[in-house]
Amino acid sequence: MKVINVVGARPNFMKIAPIQREMDKHKDFESILLHTGQHYDEKMSKLFFEDLELPQPNIYLNVGSASHAVQTAKIMVEFEKVLIDEKPDLIVVVGDVNSTAACSMVAAKMGVKIAHVEAGLRSFDRKMPEEINRLVTDTLSDDLFVTERSGLDNLKREGIEEHKVHFVGHVMIDSLIHFAEKAKKSLIKKELNLESAPYALVTLHRPSNVDNRENFVKLLDAFEIIEKDILIIFPIHPRSRKMISEFGLDGRIKAMKNLALLEPLGYLDFMNLLHSAKLTLTDSGGIQEETTYLGIPCLTMRENTERPVTIEMGTNILVGHDTELIVKETKKNPCGQRKKRRYSTPVGRQGGKENC
Ligand code: UD1
Repeated sequence: MKVINVVGARPNFMKIAPIQREMDKHKDFESILLHTGQHYDEKMSKLFFEDLELPQPNIYLNVGSASHAVQTAKIMVEFEKVLIDEKPDLIVVVGDVNSTAACSMVAAKMGVKIAHVEAGLRSFDRKMPEEINRLVTDTLSDDLFVTERSGLDNLKREGIEEHKVHFVGHVMIDSLIHFAEKAKKSLIKKELNLESAPYALVTLHRPSNVDNRENFVKLLDAFEIIEKDILIIFPIHPRSRKMISEFGLDGRIKAMKNLALLEPLGYLDFMNLLHSAKLTLTDSGGIQEETTYLGIPCLTMRENTERPVTIEMGTNILVGHDTELIVKETKKNPCGQRKKRRYSTPVGRQGGKENC
């Protein structure tokens, strides 16, 4: 079976790594790794290939950044040529980025089967580009691999035939487990002088938070209060860095002496910091799940989540961009008491054995 494994953006890499590794073990698969180039900076892409021991992509589409329509269209034009040349039996797409939906649309129209890994998640918020990508990809997919029970309910409600849906757990948690020992060896805490210091880990990049000045300012207001109690480590996404400059907020960030703004980190360094964080403040999807697996308190700076299991398990709380709520929830847990509940099987299968 000839398979094209598709990646495009940072959150795809840790999801495709275990799948690519497994396919490479089996002679009945001829697997091709394709990178659309949606993310292209060394720190957003190349570093992840090294950390996750991914082979160099066999095909690189070099699409880069653009508006949604242009980026999606560029991926589609280039991916169509690849499907004509390679004639695969199946494409595997992961997550919910523009590359996921764009490649699915091309494959569906060319009669190539699609497997979607991390299917069925719904935020019910169509203002999120990822929600549109999830809906499009799931509608078109032939096999839908689901990480949590809410995904099964969503797909059933949307009329997806049961035989297409497979409840398998989360390949991202497989990566977390697979690389845990290697991540422990990262020297990032030493480099940052964090070996004994408690810290909160922050990530922020959603357009709803960082492309809107008012919302971004509300989050900075909260960070200004929090940093008086706990050191904040903030590896910053290029989109957020750009918006800080555009909004003239550099001065406010610099004035926070207990906030360390870092370049985007590789997978192993980030995992190392995550494992020891007292608390995370994030608007990422994946970090909500990784903190649930690790039992680390997570404040999600969004109004909704497509990953409700993280809230049910007790590690995750939605705080939006509400300054007061963020501060209140942070102060509730100043020592970063670990939460007891973690994922039950099959999400993070191996992890489930230890807990629940
Ligand atoms: C994308 C995904 C989002 C995911 C996020 C993780 C979509 C719709 N969004 O958002 O779901 O959570 O990746 O990072 O697919 N940029 C660089 N270097 C890069 C990549 C991006 O500087 O390597 C900058 C550019 O200014 C670009 C902006 O970041 O315009 C946004 O990049 P884009 O890929 O459009 O979306 P993300 O915000 O990264």
